[in-house]
Amino acid sequence: MPHTDSESQLFLGLISGTSADGIDAALVRFRGHGDASHCELVHGRTYAWPEAVRARLIALGQGAAIDSIDEIGTLDVRIGEHFAAAARQLADEAGIAASHIQAIGSHGQTVRHRPAGAAFDGTHPFTMQLGDAHVIAERSGITTVADFRRRDVAAGGHGAPLLPALHNALLHSAHEDRAVLNLGGIANFTLLPQRGDVRGFDTGPANALMDAWCARHTGNAFDAGGAFAAQGTCDALLLRRLLDEPWFALPPPKSTGREVFHLDWVQARLQGGEAAADVQATLLELTATSVADALRAQQPGTRRVLVCGGGVHNARLLQRIAANLPEAVVESTAAQGVDPDFVEAMGFAWLARQALSGLPGNLPSVTGARGPRVLGVVYPRA
Ligand SMILES: Nc1ncnc2c1ncn2[C@@H]1O[C@H](COP(=O)(O)OP(=O)(O)O)[C@@H](O)[C@H]1O
Ligand SMILES: [Mg+2]
Repeated sequence: MPHTDSESQLFLGLISGTSADGIDAALVRFRGHGDASHCELVHGRTYAWPEAVRARLIALGQGAAIDSIDEIGTLDVRIGEHFAAAARQLADEAGIAASHIQAIGSHGQTVRHRPAGAAFDGTHPFTMQLGDAHVIAERSGITTVADFRRRDVAAGGHGAPLLPALHNALLHSAHEDRAVLNLGGIANFTLLPQRGDVRGFDTGPANALMDAWCARHTGNAFDAGGAFAAQGTCDALLLRRLLDEPWFALPPPKSTGREVFHLDWVQARLQGGEAAADVQATLLELTATSVADALRAQQPGTRRVLVCGGGVHNARLLQRIAANLPEAVVESTAAQGVDPDFVEAMGFAWLARQALSGLPGNLPSVTGARGPRVLGVVYPRA
């Protein structure tokens, strides 16, 4: 104590990612008025979705049609209620009153991502996140900033990735070229050269396909530690067919989601008769190979790869990424004092702070937008 003074401010970040494994919530303290390098995680937690909501979110993410406008409206409010409950619970656990939190930064839940180059009708790119921020502000009593991606898309960008600026503030080194690798449902890199522009882009699937295949064949939501994959061997011909997907060859800026990489996409490339564990091993190798290929193509001199996101807990995946990148040290962001499970949620706390300060949140060198833009809309507390 004090939790808030003229020198420090508390923001609360909320996100449910492509994996739809739960709502990540991070309470973050920022000091001073400078860059984000003076920020620390006060408390972080992941709140699981009720199983019925999760099942629907996964189905929608895999391209299932939203049944009706009624379903969108209901889900929007329902997700908002769960986000608000997560914020309240996190603040309670940390012993911080809502009135001491400057703002919530809520990413919401992406239900469709159709960026430039992948627009549904070819001409109107969009990205859609649900989680009604009016509901979050009303139920939490905390000013809420939300809808961070769409301004960047309107400015010609991908609306993603949005975390590179924070990665840069927290993890840049003046002594070596680094990369931050976020292994969520989708994998993305932030490239942090010793000198020069920050870049960032999605590399393809990380956990999304492995989760889906594992759930179908074992009933487990994810392959803990990569144990199921370890029971099989990589099928080199299948791996080749998967890597033939033209998306992998696109140059950055690029972003993707379950719209491209879903179970039917895998199914269409199977010959039939493959052992389930061999497919799991191949999907793990697909992540490891596509990540390594992208890094070698975009920043060949990388000395250190700092890994965050849930995939950091998949020991076998990390081993295979390291094996594919012998020239670099591959380690968790924890080695640099940054909790790998809450980097993204911290990022949305940071984006809320940027918005309230009238500062840009995107990096045009990353998203491809026409310029820096203030991201997000403010929903004031009552
Ligand atoms: N112990 C573990 N072993 C293997 N994979 C794990 C483990 N813990 C988490 N994961 C993976 O991390 C995913 C969640 O990562 P997260 O960063 O939250 O992704 P997203 O941002 O897409 O929600 C899970 O779906 C799972 O695939
Ligand atoms: Mg998640």
